[in-house]
Amino acid sequence: MYAIIGGSGLASLPDLDIVERRRVATLYGEPSSALVFGRLAGSPVVFLARHGEAHSIAPHQVNYRANLRALADAGATDIVAVASVGGIRAEFGPETLVVPDQIIDYTWGRASTFFEQPEPVRHVDFTQPYSERLRRKILAAAEQAGEGAYDGGTYGATQGPRLESAAEITRMERDGADLVGMTGMPEAALARELNLDYAAIAVVVNHAAGRGASEQEIRMEDLEAALARAIARVRAILRALVAGART
Ligand code: HPA
Repeated sequence: MYAIIGGSGLASLPDLDIVERRRVATLYGEPSSALVFGRLAGSPVVFLARHGEAHSIAPHQVNYRANLRALADAGATDIVAVASVGGIRAEFGPETLVVPDQIIDYTWGRASTFFEQPEPVRHVDFTQPYSERLRRKILAAAEQAGEGAYDGGTYGATQGPRLESAAEITRMERDGADLVGMTGMPEAALARELNLDYAAIAVVVNHAAGRGASEQEIRMEDLEAALARAIARVRAILRALVAGART
């Protein structure tokens, strides 16, 4: 079953025919929101609002472990994360959709593994941090929905909630980051630890700090307007993605 983790601008999924809202608890605490079970384009889906229904949970305060554990316990096998980002690479301007293929983690102090005491230590391979199978499906769905989406890009995950300085973006660019967001990690790594297929649709809502129209400042109104426009396209891709799935 597909799970959709909705980020900023996607606190609910209006096209979902809701069957059940389930509040759950895990060993790691409560997830960000109730799990919303329903049918999207005829297929069963579970939806979770990463920042809570009222968008009140900051990126560094999201209980990523509870979110992933709850989705796995609910029977999710394929996790599609929707996340708004800033574009570092010049062609990634506002309203561009990207299906990233790599990650650099700049976050700190987040509970980022299931494999610590009392669990035994285990190491997982993270060479390819996203599920290539699921990435391909998302890209095919985007094409089917007539929505352009870039194949590949490196997502740099920052701590937030503040945006970055221009110099921080310059450093990230030198590191090879194409996109900057605040929630991609530890979400992707925790999904891997649970053996879930995980991929993301990154929605570019602004040029990263010091780049393009953000040379002097990033205006939150512009960012929100770009997000509202782009999210309709993301919903079309999600419908096309799950339409083929009947499990
Ligand atoms: N930086 C970090 N996270 C973001 C940005 C950004 O510029 N835009 C949207 N999420």
